[in-house]
This record gives sequence, C-alpha cells and structure tokens, in this order.
Amino acid sequence: MSMTLTSLRAALQSLPENAPEPVVNDLFAPHLLRALGFQSEEIHPEYNTGDGDVDKAARKTIKDDIFLHTKSNPYLLLELKGRDINLSVNTAQYQKTVHQLKRYLLAPNCQTVQWGIITNSCHIQLFRKHGKVIYPATQCLPLDADNIDNVVASIRKKIENPTKALTIAIYNNKGGVGKTTTTVNLAAILTFLGKKVLAIDFDPNQQDLTSYLGLPLSNGSVFEALTERNIELQSSLHPYKFPLRKVNSELRFDIIPADLKLTDASENLLRNYLKFHTLYDKLEFSRQEYDYILIDPPPNWRVFSQLAVYAADVVLIPTKHNNLFSLENAAIAIKKFIPEVQSQKADGSPIPLPIFFNGEKITLPQIAVTQQEINNILKTAKKEGFDLLPYFYPKYTNANKDLRIHQVPSYANIAGSVFSRIPAVYRDRSAHEYYKNLAKEYFLQ
Ligand SMILES: Nc1ncnc2c1ncn2[C@@H]1O[C@H](COP(=O)(O)OP(=O)(O)O)[C@@H](O)[C@H]1O
Ligand SMILES: [Mg+2]
Repeated sequence: MSMTLTSLRAALQSLPENAPEPVVNDLFAPHLLRALGFQSEEIHPEYNTGDGDVDKAARKTIKDDIFLHTKSNPYLLLELKGRDINLSVNTAQYQKTVHQLKRYLLAPNCQTVQWGIITNSCHIQLFRKHGKVIYPATQCLPLDADNIDNVVASIRKKIENPTKALTIAIYNNKGGVGKTTTTVNLAAILTFLGKKVLAIDFDPNQQDLTSYLGLPLSNGSVFEALTERNIELQSSLHPYKFPLRKVNSELRFDIIPADLKLTDASENLLRNYLKFHTLYDKLEFSRQEYDYILIDPPPNWRVFSQLAVYAADVVLIPTKHNNLFSLENAAIAIKKFIPEVQSQKADGSPIPLPIFFNGEKITLPQIAVTQQEINNILKTAKKEGFDLLPYFYPKYTNANKDLRIHQVPSYANIAGSVFSRIPAVYRDRSAHEYYKNLAKEYFLQ
C-alpha cells in the first residue's frame, strides 16, 4: 500500500491546493494518525460519539482489546475539515469547528477520551479534556512541509504523556468575592469525591487559605523552593487531614502554605527571583501526582497572580452579582490579563472558565439590574472585538436564550466554618451540596 511508503510530509505536499474534506480524509488523515502513533486497527472512522459522528477516533491496543473491533473506550478524536474551511484562529469557521469538537468530546460514548484534534491540513490544534474541562494544549498552528514533522512530533509527545492534573487558578482582581473560600471548599469536596488534590496559598500577604485550615505558615521554605533550582516545592507540603467516623480512615489533601518571607520582599526584588514561569516549572512533578491543583492568588495583577495564572490550565472566576467591580474585573481578566499570559506561555492555555456568582442572596429585581450591567460589559467588549458571552452566559444559544449563571448561595455556615478550621463542606450538609454542585458544573464528567 502506498501509505506505508509515503511520509506525512509527502502526503501533505501531494494534497491539491483546495483539497475538500474527503480528499484530506483519504490522503492526509491516515498519515497524520500514523505519525501520532496509531496503527490502522487502532483507528475507527466515522465513530459514533452518541452526539454525532466524529471523523476518526483512535485508541492504542490494550492486550487483545483492539479498538476497531470492540469500538470501546476511545482515547483521541480527530475532526477533519477540507481546505475550503478556514481554521485560522477566530474565524467563524474555526469557532464552529472547535464547538463541534467540544460537543463530541463531551458526548456519552467519549467518556474516556482525553484528546481532540481539529485539522484541515493547513492548520492543526490539539485540545485536552480533563473531566468536563476542555482546554487548548497547543495554539492553532499553521502546517507546512517544513514544520509538519516537528509539529506532529510535539503533539504525539503530549498525547503519549498526558499530565494527570488539571491546574486551576481561582482569580478575580477584586477582594472579598470568595476566592479563598472557593479554593478551600472545592479542594475539600474534590477530595471527598476521591480525587487527589493540592491547594496552594499564593497570597502571602493575606495568608487566608493557610489560616482557614489552621496550618502553620511557611518561613522561607516556599521562597527557597521557588528560587533555588535544587529544592522541590514538595518539601513545603503540609497535609490537611480530616478524620472520618470509620476507624482509621481520613480525608486528606495537600497544602502549600503562604510563606512569610514572600511578604517582606518588594515587588522589584520579587521580580528578580520569580519569573512568569517559575511556579509552572516548579509544579512539574505535582502535575503527575495530583488530579487537581488549586491556586489561590491575591486580588491584584502583580507578581503572585501572574505566576498563578501562568501555572494554570484554566482560571475560575468568582464574582458577586451585586458588585459591579467584580464583574468588570472578570471582564478585564478575560480580555487582558489572561491573553497576556497566553501569549507568553504559547501553548494556548490558560483559558477562563465562565464566571459564577458567590455568596449573596439574589432577588429577581436584582437579577434584572445585574443583567443590565452584564449587557453593558458585553457591549463594550464587543466594540473592542471580544465575545464575552460564553464567559458570562455559558448556556446562551441563539435557539435558547438561557441567561443562567451558576451560583454558590450565601450561607452562614460557609462563612462560619472559618473559625472551626474545617472546610464547610466537611461540617455541613448544605455547604457540601453547594460545592458538589460547583464541582459537577465545572469539572466532573
Ligand atoms: N458562599 C458564601 N456564603 C457566605 N459567606 C461567604 C461565602 N463565600 C465567601 N464568604 C465569606 O466572604 C468573605 C470573603 O471571602 P474570601 O473567600 O475570603 O474572599 P477572597 O479570597 O476573594 O478575598 C469571607 O468572610 C467568607 O467567609
Ligand atoms: Mg483570599
């Protein structure tokens, strides 16, 4: 067969300039999947996701479970387009294709899928799926004969070594919106649900997360780990343990506490030691250890927040419906801060998750006022070339103008639990439910 003789590069070069989808499918896709490490019996064409057919699904053979035969547990989806579809970032066709891929990735027969690729042979982009969260694992990259072997090799390397953890920065450039409370209770509920969790107090001036859990502050060890090549961040870990009624059993998640030494240093001094990528680099081992890494940064856009957002795959943004600043700050983070970090990091991450409302009672008239404010924010953003709709109203479609925003209600036992040094979700049934809903809404499949 010619396929075994033709290289991926040659296949690309042989494609007609305006190759439509069936031609890309026949002449390019098999070579691409082979270069990504899949044999022909590991590839299923027109795979039924349960929500439409994706062009190809793939999974390596496990003992004698051959994907093409059992059709179960796909690992990667490939959605192909012809060269008549423009997949440059931000074209309408690109958006539509990404949307289509996301739908397939979340479809019932794709629970085990971890990766999705879109390509028309001129562009290619890799996406990671972690639970319910889908985020870019590469930028949308142009393909040509000179770079294709390298680009595809780097994609193969990622899909063969998936990081275990999803790293989440819980950020809003406004204080008092519930960042720390969300971090603690999300860490606690994910732990309860069987996940391995690391939470990082990256707000050395407030130290709220560390004191919420009654843990000792670090006195220079986090600083050392961040600034010295040979010291691992793990050396500063503290377990938080919550005993269960069953004998000899407990819940446990790990904390990196706030470091006093980081409070004293000036911003200028810190910038000499701490680069944008410092925290990201130091989390390399943790990304293979934990299911979730949660980072609680300060409410500003200075060095700790920048490092935290750089380290993250996704940014979770708590807001308050009755606090215009928290809504505007969410918009600024999405329009300005996060893209700033994206351009430095150059792998397509981090991406913002939709906002949620935290910790206020909301009446119907208040909702109307809030919607007016959000509409103004959306309008301003549109003039500046940003579509913020998916981040404010994630359920909104043209067919179904759904304006629901997820809420963690105001609840005295959430605030009160701080004094007990125990996450509210371990003490209180309602708090438990509220944060389980948050975890399900955003993270769990
Ligand atoms: N859902 C909630 N219900 C009641 N009180 C809350 C809720 N979320 C946060 N709080 C309280 O609001 C205050 C600010 O929350 P915090 O998490 O410290 O915000 P941030 O970290 O953004 O500054 C704290 O006193 C906290 O206990
Ligand atoms: Mg805080």
